[in-house]
Amino acid sequence: MKQKIVVLTGAGISAESGLATFRDANGLWEGHDVMEVASPQGWQKNPELVLEFYNQRRKSALGVEPNAAHKALVDLEQKFDVRIITQNVDNLHERAGSKHVLHLHGKLFESRSTKDESLIYPMEGWELNLGDLCEKGSQLRPNIVWFGEPVPLIEEAAEETMSADYLLVIGTSLQVYPAAGLLSFAPHDTPIYLIDPNAPAVQHRRNLTILQEKATVGVPKLVEQLLSK
Ligand code: APR
Repeated sequence: MKQKIVVLTGAGISAESGLATFRDANGLWEGHDVMEVASPQGWQKNPELVLEFYNQRRKSALGVEPNAAHKALVDLEQKFDVRIITQNVDNLHERAGSKHVLHLHGKLFESRSTKDESLIYPMEGWELNLGDLCEKGSQLRPNIVWFGEPVPLIEEAAEETMSADYLLVIGTSLQVYPAAGLLSFAPHDTPIYLIDPNAPAVQHRRNLTILQEKATVGVPKLVEQLLSK
């Protein structure tokens, strides 16, 4: 049986594709306070602004390509059972060709009913507007997990992590829970590799290797090393 590699990714893996991270610009996200555009309160207050914000994010995502780090993770499947757990809402892992991608914080290219959260619709283009309705007649919102909302896939992600032979953590500041707490689900002797030019501190772990590098440099290097094991 193949060994299992769990990969937790954050905004940093998509940075070199041209998508902005969240916390590298003074807590502003493309000029907005995150609570205004990514919380239920923000949605209540100004749904038009929120929709417009995600329309812009979709436009940006349509104009970028997966980078060498996304692609290297696909190569890893030659020899390992690779499970990607991403906090990113972009689809660059899928577009690179990764087979198993779990989106903890939702998907940019899906809309969801505000009345019945089981009604989820794929989106082809970039635009979602006021007046776009679900089949039950209520306004559609982005299918994104906002601040203060439950993270429905966290249990599945924790279970995956519990059986990891290796854990790779790429381009995340580990500031947001419950995602950041996933590290503690990895078995004690599971090697953890952290790849981030500004790597966050991780306490109480044996077998922790920090690669203080950009994703497009560090990930292909590590993948080569793991494939030659
Ligand atoms: N390669 C690798 N890492 C990078 C690169 C790069 N080229 N550029 C920046 N980084 C790192 C930063 O050093 C930082 O540690 O990526 C990390 C980005 O951190 P955040 O902006 O906090 O993004 P993330 O951890 O994904 O945020 C988590 O917060 O806003 C919410 O729901 C949103 O999913 C998001 C969550």
